[in-house]
Order: sequence, then C-alpha cells, then structure tokens
Amino acid sequence: MLNVNKLNQFYGQSHTLWDLSFDVPKNACLCVLGRNGVGKTTLMQSIMGLTASVTGDILFNGDNLVAQPAESRALSGIGYIPQGRQIFSQLSVQENIRTGCFAKGNFNSEMWDRVYSLFPVLATMKNRRGGDLSGGQQQQLAIARALMLEPQLILMDEPTEGIQPTIVQQIGEIIKQLCDEDNMTVVIVEQKLAFARQVGTHFIILDRGRLMASGEMNLLSDELVQKYLTV
Ligand SMILES: Nc1ncnc2c1ncn2[C@@H]1O[C@H](COP(=O)(O)OP(=O)(O)OP(=O)(O)O)[C@@H](O)[C@H]1O
Ligand SMILES: [Mg+2]
Repeated sequence: MLNVNKLNQFYGQSHTLWDLSFDVPKNACLCVLGRNGVGKTTLMQSIMGLTASVTGDILFNGDNLVAQPAESRALSGIGYIPQGRQIFSQLSVQENIRTGCFAKGNFNSEMWDRVYSLFPVLATMKNRRGGDLSGGQQQQLAIARALMLEPQLILMDEPTEGIQPTIVQQIGEIIKQLCDEDNMTVVIVEQKLAFARQVGTHFIILDRGRLMASGEMNLLSDELVQKYLTV
C-alpha cells in the first residue's frame, strides 16, 4: 500500500536520504531501525510531506504523494505521530483529540468511541489538561488524536521513547490491534529492539541515510543488529 522508490532528501546542501526504496504491505507494521541521526525522522517527515527538497516516488495506494502538501496527504489517509508527541499542553485531553479532525472539519463519533475504548485512561481524564498527563498518557493521547482522521496508514516516530514499561507494553498491544482489527498499516521508528521484534512484521535499517537491509522481521539477524544497531 506504500511504495517508496529512490527517495532522496536534502536539507539545503546536505544530502540526508539516499535512494531509499522499500515497500510496506497492507496491514503490516514496518519498523524503521537505525542509530541516532541516521535519518529516521527525516524519512517519516518526507513521507508526510513535512520536509522540503524530496525527490523520487512515494506511492500511497498507487497515487504519487511527492508533489502533494501535508494536508492532502493527511486527508488521503496518512496519520502522523511526531517524535516527542507535541501535545497541546494548555488544551484538555478532549480538545487535543478534537484537533485531530480539524483537517477534515467534522468528526466521526464511532471513531471517538473506538479511541476511548482503546485508551480508557483518556476517557477518565478527558477534562484534564494535556500538559498534566504523564509521558505515557501523552503518547496515548497523540495516537488517539492521529486516529481521529481514520487513517489507513499511521506513521509513529519513537512512540516508546521515555515511557514506563507497562505503558510501552500497552502501546505495543494497541499497534497490533490497529493492524489486525482496524485494518490499518503502521510504520514505526523504534530504538527498542525487543519492542520492534514484538510488534513489527517487517523492518528496514538505515545508516547515514542509506538503506542497509530490509525484510520480514524474522530475518533481522544478530549480525545486522551488531553491525548497524548496537552503539
Ligand atoms: N531541519 C533540519 N535541518 C538540517 N539538518 C537536519 C534537520 N533535521 C535533521 N537534520 C540532520 O539530518 C540528519 C538526520 O536527522 P534525523 O532527525 O532524521 O535522524 P534520526 O535518525 O531521526 O535521529 P534520532 O535517532 O536522534 O531521532 C542528522 O544529521 C540531522 O542533524
Ligand atoms: Mg528521530
């Protein structure tokens, strides 16, 4: 459902992503792996349309996204959960969730129910300010907000960064449910290898902006981990 072909990205003179080509099958969870600074966030932002100077093709259900602005990518069914969550700290939980539908102008009340059933803690805290939530709750809120547009594809950038283990586990379960029950496809940047192996069906490894390996998750060997992921 997502086919990336010879994707290159530049920050001014700095060539960040080099000829990346990979496919994400429908209902898969692809983990983007790689050490710090190799271009994982830049890749997510390039798929979402948030970086300038991208060449190559990004096909989403066969349509080329490269020339489209971020808003139309969002409306065509791509949700984005940025690294660091970017919750509105002064808005309530409920208001934060509602901002997820602004691009569309209305919201689907069934999706609202689904979001609260996936994250019951958000239902109990709906009038609390976003800034008062724990890191793990904010991450759940960021996922909930992205789900309101009913995306077919969700991009998540390090959703488990700085979060306590019990909530990491819950987020893993939610990602699996989204793929298996809600017919969604997920691309996730992840540094925790055990988590990647648990939720991911496929992986790609980046090193200095280049694709070094890709495949089904069971092909992620100890040699690849040693060579490209251990610090
Ligand atoms: N807005 C920007 N302008 C110029 N260079 C940037 C910009 N954002 C990132 N870079 C550079 O591009 C490279 C890739 O950064 P990116 O944030 O995509 O890496 P990352 O793999 O997500 O890192 P991390 O694991 O720390 O989140 C780095 O060298 C970074 O310094
Ligand atoms: Mg990053």
